[in-house]
Parts: sequence; structure tokens; C-alpha cells
Amino acid sequence: MHFFQYKDNELYCEQVPVSDIARDVGTPFFLYSEATLTRHFQAFDSGFAGMPHLTCFAVKSCSNLAILNLFGRMGGGADIVSGGELFRALNAGIPADSIIYSGVGKTEKEIREALEAGILMFNIESPQELDRVQRVALELDAVAPIGFRVNPDVDPKTHSYISTGLAKNKFGIPVEDALQEYRRARDMKGVVIRGVSCHIGSQLTRIDPFVEALRKLKDFITRLEAEGIRVSYLDLGGGVGITYDNEQPPHPHDYAMAIKDELGDLDCTLILEPGRVIVGNAGILVTEVQYTKVNTGGSEDKHFVIVDAAMNDLTRPSLYGAYHDITPVRKTGAAEETVDIVGPICETGDFMARDRKLPKVEQGDLLAIMSSGAYGFTMASNYNSRTRAAEVLVRGDRYFVIRSREDYQDLVKGETIPEVG
Ligand SMILES: Cc1ncc(COP(=O)(O)O)c(C=O)c1O
Repeated sequence: MHFFQYKDNELYCEQVPVSDIARDVGTPFFLYSEATLTRHFQAFDSGFAGMPHLTCFAVKSCSNLAILNLFGRMGGGADIVSGGELFRALNAGIPADSIIYSGVGKTEKEIREALEAGILMFNIESPQELDRVQRVALELDAVAPIGFRVNPDVDPKTHSYISTGLAKNKFGIPVEDALQEYRRARDMKGVVIRGVSCHIGSQLTRIDPFVEALRKLKDFITRLEAEGIRVSYLDLGGGVGITYDNEQPPHPHDYAMAIKDELGDLDCTLILEPGRVIVGNAGILVTEVQYTKVNTGGSEDKHFVIVDAAMNDLTRPSLYGAYHDITPVRKTGAAEETVDIVGPICETGDFMARDRKLPKVEQGDLLAIMSSGAYGFTMASNYNSRTRAAEVLVRGDRYFVIRSREDYQDLVKGETIPEVG
């Protein structure tokens, strides 16, 4: 449930007409509803009430400081995958000891920064990474808290680009090899074993792959215990899906119930790394129609709606063929036509929707691209030297620009022309 609703044929975010914000801020812009963000965080987190757990929001899904700060104030930690995300999380006020660091390619610099900050745990993804973490920890005269990201070889039944827990994916360490790595870590100076983690994929619409992965992790923890290796944190990753079109993902409470059932009386603090399920439907991308045109000459006429948002703003349709509902900000009652909604970028792959039924729109009309809160702005680029969009947060009847639109100076920041000769 989200707080983007029509009143008198006008789309509102909470109590603010979306067109008012467009008039003041310009288009395109990402628009988030604070009430929706809060509700989704609480709906997820409360499913695990009564058991020791930490909800570490996946920063990669939406990394604006204001949004991270909101989750931090609700007791959330952060799941990070880079030094930049560490910087953001700390700047947003998330305590270092609630930060989990995953990712296959952590550099020495990033490891040093995370150790200096005092994060909760590194999720180590290869034997070489363990050696590097140990080396950096010894150099700093520190002790690195670690767990291994185990690859459980479970099919999450999602898009292949966002499947992460299959043996053929680059993530984690195979279960068979992980035991040996835990033994190695146990005998090392400069590291302390804290936990075990896994993440099997994103936009999962079924519970059973999560349960299967958890079962494998539990077996693995039993094997660790038999070796005298105790883990106090079990990190199950993120991955619960949302409805973009007609998917029927599990309700977070049903997901939590299934996890609780499978966990039984395992004596561990549970860590969860949700992203999309919290922010996905809490944000939209608002864009203005620049032109409409009909290309004739093919087997049938092709109707195009050309908007001022493009694949550099929201890359999901181009990258994954992802579906986003697109709806007029003001409903006019016009008859529907079948159109391609495309951006200005010089790529045929630059589309927001293809062969989509949309009430006939005119130049200057506003469209809302729904469910753009997750992997929207965070995946944006400057391709075609387009400035990145503004981000706006609504709270009740007020709104705040939480990231201003980039300007042309931002585009060339750091660039220099060497002297000739
Ligand atoms: C390690 C890790 N944790 C958490 C997430 C967040 O997943 P989601 O946004 O599907 O909840 C991802 C996404 O790929 C991830 O790779």
C-alpha cells in the first residue's frame, strides 16, 4: 500500500498534488512519500518483532541521505557494497556498528575505511578477500569482524541478471569450500568470526527459495558448531519482491513467519538486507511529454510519446526489460491508444514502455512512472551529458528537495583540458 492516490482525477503524493511539485521543481524528478517509506519499513521490520534482529537497509536500492536517515531513526542499519555507500550511511547518521559490508570486490582502501569506522561485519566473498582483510586489519592493529557470504546454490526464480545465489553466479563462496575458510579464519590473528550470510537474488516472488537457502545455512551452522566455531549473526540478505505489474510477492509478514518457522530455536541475531520491498513502491519518476509523433511506413503506424525522462534516469526498462506502470498525473478521460513511451537518448533501447495502452496525451502533459523508488536514481547516469534528476520527499502537506537537479557545471566537474604543446 502506498500514498500516491488520485483525488478529483489529479495524482497526489500524500497531500501534495504532484503537478504542484513539477511546476516548482521542473521535470524529470523522483518523488518519494515519507509515509510510504515509513510504513514499508515498519511492515517489514515488525514481522521479526520478538526475536533478535537487525534490518539493514540495502543502500544500493536508494541511497539519498534523507531516506537513509529516516530508516536510521527507525532503528535500521545499512547493508553497503562500496566505500561510497559507507560514506553515505555514516553521513546519514547510521551507527557504524549497524553496518554490514557485502560485495565481491572490496579494495584495500574500502576495507581500511570500514575498519576505521568500526562496522558490524564484513561479508567476505573469497579466500583472497579474507587474506586482504586480515592484512589491512593487522596494519591498523585492529581486529576485523567477519562472516562469509555462502553461496547456497539455490534458484531464486527471478531475472537472471539479479539472481545471486546460484553456483554459476559470481557471489559468495560455495558451501563445500566455506568450512575450510572458516577454519582458516578461526586460526588467524586480526580477524574475529561473527556470522554467516547469504543473498540469493532480488525481486523474488516466492518464499520457498528463501526457506531452502536458510535450511542450507542452518545445516552449515551445525557443521561449524561441530568444529567449535560459533556464529552469533545470521544474515539472510534481501530480495523480497514487489508488484510492478501483476506479480504477487509474499507479504513481508508471511515471509517473516516462514523464516521464523525455519529458524526454530537457532541462537543467532538475524540480519536482513531489504531494499526494493521498502522503497520500490514508495517512489515515482515524474516526467513531461515533449512531443508526440506517428511514424508511418512500416507494416503499421507507430505512435511515440517522447518524454523528458530517459534510460539514464531510470535504466530498468532498458536493462532488464522491466515493466513500470505509467499513468497520467492528470486524468483527462481521453481515449486510450497504444504507444511507445521513449526518452530523448540516442539509443533505440531508450524506452520506458513499449506497446503500452495510455490515454491520449499532449505536449506538456505530466506522466508518473510508478514503482521507481528502488534502483531508480541509484542507477542513474549522465549518459548523453544529461544532468541527473532532482529527488523530492513529501511529508504530509509539505515537500522537500532532498537532492537538487544537477547543472551543467556538475557535468564537467573534475575534467580538465591539458595545455597544448
Ligand atoms: C548483498 C545484497 N543485499 C541486499 C540486496 C537488496 O536486495 P532487494 O533490493 O531485492 O531487497 C542486494 C541486491 O541485489 C544484495 O546484492
